[in-house]
Amino acid sequence: VHHHLEESIRPYIDLIDTLRSVGIQKDLALPTIVVIGDQSSGKSSVLEALSGIALPRGSGIVTRCPLELRLRNVTGGVSWKAVLPRLSYEEKIIEFGDPSLVEKHVEEAQNELAGKGVKICDDLITLEVRSADVCDLTLIDLPGIARVPVQGQPQDIGNQIKRLIMKFIEKQETINMVVVPCNTDIATTEALRMAQEVDPEGIRTLAILTKPDLIDRGTEKNILAVVQNKVIPLRKGYVMVKCRGQQQIDEKIPLVEATQIERDFFQNHDFFRPLLDENKATVKCLAIKLTQDLVSHIKKSLPKLDEQIKKQLWDVRNELKECEAGPPQDLKGAKQFLIKILTKFNDKIKSLSFGELIIKDN
Ligand code: GDP
Ligand code: NA
Ligand code: MG
Repeated sequence: VHHHLEESIRPYIDLIDTLRSVGIQKDLALPTIVVIGDQSSGKSSVLEALSGIALPRGSGIVTRCPLELRLRNVTGGVSWKAVLPRLSYEEKIIEFGDPSLVEKHVEEAQNELAGKGVKICDDLITLEVRSADVCDLTLIDLPGIARVPVQGQPQDIGNQIKRLIMKFIEKQETINMVVVPCNTDIATTEALRMAQEVDPEGIRTLAILTKPDLIDRGTEKNILAVVQNKVIPLRKGYVMVKCRGQQQIDEKIPLVEATQIERDFFQNHDFFRPLLDENKATVKCLAIKLTQDLVSHIKKSLPKLDEQIKKQLWDVRNELKECEAGPPQDLKGAKQFLIKILTKFNDKIKSLSFGELIIKDN
């Protein structure tokens, strides 16, 4: 998927990524896009189509940790970087050149963070993809909403996942991308309900309708009305996409070919053809829309971000002032002063310092 977007969008996305990489999101909420939906609704398929990389997929719970996917459009070769948080404030960075290693590294990272098996965890794994074939976007993939626990999962896995999703989508700075298959009852989708709960006016909610090729005959008109925002109105609206089905994956149909198949599907569809002209169909259209949405969201968030950073700086300066006078002259006062300063210093170091462990896998 090639996207020639204006040069001016990159600085905004890069700024937010830089802030995130120094850990600012622990103190401030950063603008971002999160992907939510039921298990098997097509989340990974959409991300795969947007990024051009094969992500771990399959039935059951595959995404077990929040996965930040940083896509960077650069000329030249393709490079990959996986960053995972580790205990003891240390980050592990794995660099690799072969896209087929993505699945393996994400799986290993999940095993390390959430343990082997079916448990989930709140820690963020970052996967950075630099390639000429991706658009400039940063998205966070979250575990899918599970209805029934599978063998080895705690009884309350459904609630655990919902709690994790809630943590991301309740932030005003987040654009919620809700993935809903066309062949389900859209109005009663749990993910859409959650998004509506935190964003009642639908200002920062965008819905993606997947699997239009699996639609029940006779429901086309209803679905069309949904996409045209006439049923459950969302300010950011809907986009319909057709990704690779299981058979096409098994047949190893390349993503480029899938893009053409998607276009043909819409062009030849009796009901959905108009969506092409309305910019409400195809992955390519979604990519452009998402990038524009994210950038305008970042622009809107900058004044508030600036204000919050200034306030924190002011707080730190005040603290610093307290120290400037130096320790009191009497021995007892001086001792207390030093203990207080050292304790604070120790706490700061603990919360800030992280080493980096870089592994190259080529
Ligand atoms: P996730 O659990 O939400 O990440 O869902 P996946 O992306 O793993 O998709 C679940 C299944 O639905 C896979 O077998 C996909 O091939 C299939 N799928 C996804 N999108 C489409 C689509 O647009 N059409 C068809 N026919 N199948 C799809
Ligand atoms: Na899945
Ligand atoms: Mg998935």
